[in-house]
Amino acid sequence: MAEVVLRGVWKRFGEVVAVRDMNLHVKDGEFMILLGPSGCGKTTTLRMIAGLEEPTKGQIYIGDKLVADPEKGVFVPPRDRDIAMVFQSYALYPHMTVYDNIAFPLKLRKVPKQEIDRRVREVAEMLGLTELLNRKPRELSGGQKQRVALGRAIVRKPKVFLMDEPLSNLDAKLRVKMRAELKKLQRQLGVTTIYVTHDQVEAMTMGDRIAVINQGVLQQVGTPDEVYDRPANTFVAGFIGSPPMNFMDATITEDGFADFGEFRLKLLPEHVEVLRDKNLLGRDVIFGIRPEDIYDAMFAQVKVPGENMVRAMVEIIENLGSEKIVHLRVGGITFLGSFRSESKVREGQEVDVVFDMRKAHIFERKSGKAIF
Ligand SMILES: Nc1ncnc2c1ncn2[C@@H]1O[C@H](COP(=O)(O)OP(=O)(O)OP(=O)(O)O)[C@@H](O)[C@H]1O
Ligand SMILES: [Mg+2]
Repeated sequence: MAEVVLRGVWKRFGEVVAVRDMNLHVKDGEFMILLGPSGCGKTTTLRMIAGLEEPTKGQIYIGDKLVADPEKGVFVPPRDRDIAMVFQSYALYPHMTVYDNIAFPLKLRKVPKQEIDRRVREVAEMLGLTELLNRKPRELSGGQKQRVALGRAIVRKPKVFLMDEPLSNLDAKLRVKMRAELKKLQRQLGVTTIYVTHDQVEAMTMGDRIAVINQGVLQQVGTPDEVYDRPANTFVAGFIGSPPMNFMDATITEDGFADFGEFRLKLLPEHVEVLRDKNLLGRDVIFGIRPEDIYDAMFAQVKVPGENMVRAMVEIIENLGSEKIVHLRVGGITFLGSFRSESKVREGQEVDVVFDMRKAHIFERKSGKAIF
């Protein structure tokens, strides 16, 4: 087992900066997620850790060992890094049985036959593949193939697992099942794991911590609760959570309201204190609140018109059964509310909505940086 450390890592492809000054410390045994939109540099980061790509600048450590540093001329090849990788395409050997596919990395390393047999059977048991050991890959379902690919990765007991969207080829239901299995397996093995995905639900449900990346730049590293409750900026706030956080242009008034022009909301005293300290009273900011923190007033305890409640027009309702995503409008301002399924809202009618101001976020207008 080992920690993985990136210090000031850059990767350029000609003009393109794929990774920009990345600093990341993955702890021993941790399940770290690299999360971000397509093209943000997730795979490139993983490939540099694996040794399939050399950084342009910076240092990478696996355990205490420096494995890449172009300035010192250090570059340890992949086979000497003691890592195992699982990719989106499982790339099993089609002519080999499940048993031989899993055994393959051990055979390459000339592990004694008895030891190979013991470890293949142990891994197969763990992954529920015991009954399938004599089958060929074409006789397996997608989920079974993916488990064989996982088996091949874990059989070696590497220091670090690197996984690049390993579940994205599976159908939605199987993905949910494999998500839980993979997480359980990682806990059981305790092997440091770096897992790439652009799916925020996968990230939230699986990760010990999540590293959110945008355009090659690390935005925030935190536990799922931290990135959800205390996003560092508007990018993280908008990327984590579904439907995404509402953002509204506001001015902070001297008397402690967020003023949207059409209406205003009273900020909590402790929030006003923070804004006063930052010299933001009287200034333009971005106000953020998640749909799940906006209620149908019918179901709200504390409701004060002009403070935390406003009458809004219901434009569209998306009924998800467990909840209703309601598209709301006050004058020219639109936002989403996630209402309880019992809500009696109707499209084209007005409804009183309540904002849970304890859950309000304020971001700097220019930089998008979170004040709280
Ligand atoms: N070999 C390469 N040559 C040139 N540009 C590259 C190369 N590999 C990646 N890039 C560029 O670097 C950036 C980051 O790519 P990367 O594959 O790391 O993104 P990603 O976050 O994994 O995206 P996705 O979610 O689509 O897989 C992109 O702009 C991509 O076009
Ligand atoms: Mg990728």
